Amino acid sequence: MNVTHLECALCGLRHEANTLQNLCITCGKPLLVRYDLEKAAKTLTPESLQTRESNLWRYREVLPVVNEANIVSLGEGWTPLFKTDRLAATLPIKLDLYIKDEGQNPTQSFKARGMTAAISMAKELGVTKLAVPSAGNAAGALAAYAALAGMEANIFMPADTPRANIVECQQTGANVTLIDGLITDCGKIVADRKDEMGWFDVSTLKEPYRVEGKKTMGYELFEQFSSLVTRHLSPVTLPDAILYPTGGGTGLIGMWKAFDEMEQMGWIGSERPRMVSVQSETCAPIVRAFHAGERFADEFENASTVASGLRVPKCIGDFLILDAIRASNGTAVTVADAELTAAVAEIGALTGTFTAPEGAACLPALRKLIADGSVTEGESVVIFNTGSGIKYLEAFEG
Ligand SMILES: Cc1ncc(COP(=O)(O)O)c(C=O)c1O
Ligand SMILES: [Zn+2]
Repeated sequence: MNVTHLECALCGLRHEANTLQNLCITCGKPLLVRYDLEKAAKTLTPESLQTRESNLWRYREVLPVVNEANIVSLGEGWTPLFKTDRLAATLPIKLDLYIKDEGQNPTQSFKARGMTAAISMAKELGVTKLAVPSAGNAAGALAAYAALAGMEANIFMPADTPRANIVECQQTGANVTLIDGLITDCGKIVADRKDEMGWFDVSTLKEPYRVEGKKTMGYELFEQFSSLVTRHLSPVTLPDAILYPTGGGTGLIGMWKAFDEMEQMGWIGSERPRMVSVQSETCAPIVRAFHAGERFADEFENASTVASGLRVPKCIGDFLILDAIRASNGTAVTVADAELTAAVAEIGALTGTFTAPEGAACLPALRKLIADGSVTEGESVVIFNTGSGIKYLEAFEG
C-alpha cells in the first residue's frame, strides 16, 4: 500500500512500481520501494498497532501489496524479543542483552519475512514461475511460499547446503538443483537460464520486495523494545547496538530502511542503534571492506563456513550494508567457525534457544566488541538469531 515508485539505491533513478522489476536499468544496482509516508502515517501509528494481527502484515501501510487478497502468508514475523540475563551474566561487563528469535518463523528462519513479501508481489504482478540461488534457508522459505501460492519454485543451492534445507524444499514441491559451487555460482545459473525458462529471479536484492519483508524486523524491534525498556522513566525506543550475522545483508539493509521510514513518520528522532555486521573469518567480504575504508566489497576468495547463510563471497547490496554501518557509527567483526559453533551450545544452555550457527556468531562477536571498547557497560544490545539450529544437525556431529 502507499507505494509511489521504486528508486535505485545507488543512482536514484526512478522506476515504475506496478510492473515486474529486477535491478536498476542504468547502473544494475538494487531498487528500493518508496512510499507516501505522510499518507501511511495517518493510519499506521504505534497506537493503531496495539490491536493488529501478530504477523508482519500488521505493517501493511509500509508494505508493497496493493490488493490484500494477494498476500501469501504462513503467519511470519512478530517473533519474540527476550531479555537474556543468564547469558548476559557470562560477559565481563553489565549489559542489557536481548535476543530476537527469528528461528520461530515459518520455515524456521527470517527468510520467511522476505519471501512472504516477494511471493505476494509476484502474485500481484502475475508471476507463475520463480527461481532463486540460495545458501539454504531462503530456498526453504521460497519453496514454502511458492507452494502456498501455487507457483513453480526452481531452486539452486550448493551441494553441501545443510541437508534439512534440501529435504524441506523437496518436500514442499520445489524443483531442486544442487550445484558443485557457491551461492554466487548458483546465481549465475539463474541469471543465464531465467529468460529462456520464463522464471522471475527472486535473488536477494535483485528484486525489490524481499528487503521490504525483512525490514519489518526493524519495526518490530521498535515496538517490542519500547514496550520492554524504560530508562529514567521515559521509554527507550531502540537498543544501543544491533548485532546481525551478515550474508547478503538484506536484513541489515531492511532494518536501516525501516528506521528511516519510522523517522519520516515521526515515530523516532534521528537516533539510531549502532549496526554491527558479524561474519565468519573464512568469508568476510564486508568486514574486510569496512576496515579497508571501501564502499564496495571485493569477492572473498575460497569462502567457506559451517554457518552456511554467511557463505556469501560477494553481494550486490555491499554498499548499502557498508553505508548503514558507517552512518550508524557501527562496526564489522569476524568470528572463527569454532567460536560460532561453540556459541550455539552456550546460548542453548543459558537461554533454551537452539540457535542457527549464524545467529550464535553474534555472541563471540559481542565479546570482541566488549574487549575493544566498542560496547560498554550499561548499554542495551540486541543479537539477531536469524534461524533455528534444527536445520544444521550435521554441524554438531562428530
Ligand atoms: C540463518 C541465516 N542467518 C543469516 C543469513 C544472512 O542473511 P542476509 O542475507 O540478510 O545477510 C542467512 C542467509 O542465508 C541465514 O540463512
Ligand atoms: Zn541505478
